Amino acid sequence: MTISTAHTGKPLPILIDCDPGHDDMVAIMTAYVATDIDLRGITTVAGNQTGEKTFLNARRILSLLKADDVPLARGCDVPLVRPLHIAENIHGDSGLDGADLPEPREAYSSLHAVDFIADQLSRSDTPLTLVPTGPLTNIALFIRRYPELLSRIERIVLMGGGVSESNVTPAAEFNIFVDPEAADIVFRSGLPLTMVGLDVTNRAMLNLDDIASLQASDGPVSHIVGDLLAFFAGTYKKVFGMAGAALHDALAVAVAAAPDIVTARDLHVAVETKGDHTVGRTVADLYGVTGNAPNASVAMDIDTNRFRSLMFSVFSELDTRCR
Ligand code: RIB
Ligand code: CA
Repeated sequence: MTISTAHTGKPLPILIDCDPGHDDMVAIMTAYVATDIDLRGITTVAGNQTGEKTFLNARRILSLLKADDVPLARGCDVPLVRPLHIAENIHGDSGLDGADLPEPREAYSSLHAVDFIADQLSRSDTPLTLVPTGPLTNIALFIRRYPELLSRIERIVLMGGGVSESNVTPAAEFNIFVDPEAADIVFRSGLPLTMVGLDVTNRAMLNLDDIASLQASDGPVSHIVGDLLAFFAGTYKKVFGMAGAALHDALAVAVAAAPDIVTARDLHVAVETKGDHTVGRTVADLYGVTGNAPNASVAMDIDTNRFRSLMFSVFSELDTRCR
């Protein structure tokens, strides 16, 4: 299956940096099964849960997918400056509560995520697209540690921020809030950047009927995804009053392969790293009043039906592969 409706030529080579996390799991599944994506590797970072738990969850997800061909490396356990803030209220004690997952895959890289990303970029015959779906700690450290490799990055398509939406505070989205200094480095890097923020990802929803249908499925992957997303939807109902599961990170992967699944505007985005009430805010200059040149393509609207259909295609394909 392909994400893009007009895919031609070679698959898009990407690296995912994530903090699994229920929606990170769906992002990994989407990238793994799409034939218009070449998933070169996964790195993990502390965010939704501790670095130890997000790494363990990534290993369990790769076991579930039998994705022995996808290398994995562990990254930072703490943000650049601030103490770690996790989202246990959303993703649970394990960071992926709601179902029993297989034993974690034993094989993983001995490299730190930052060095793993450098190694992958150095060895690739084409530039790679980075898809961060957690706090940007690893990505910021990579930018500082390997400036000579920045030209090997095709684009960064990140899940984070929001023009008019927030979640972890009234001002900030979680991934940016956890490490605003790292996000500031990424947004100031000058690298080609797409921001897939809450304005679109809060609408990248599977509703409660969708989740119930997955739970009722006899597909080995659909059933477990249904149970996991039922947990996730439960916390979203409790915390945000939402009726369903917002698959934030899966949309970032989809946008990397099919930018037309959203509509975007080139805007200047600044990251607030100070402020008692606003730290972590992505400040998007909608009307160009700052005079600053745009530094990001910011997703503003989403084809929600196309995204929902894509999600069900992903789970169905994985059911077939993992039977
Ligand atoms: O705000 C949503 C983002 O924070 C998602 O990436 C979710 O997995 C958490 O990391
Ligand atoms: Ca995430």
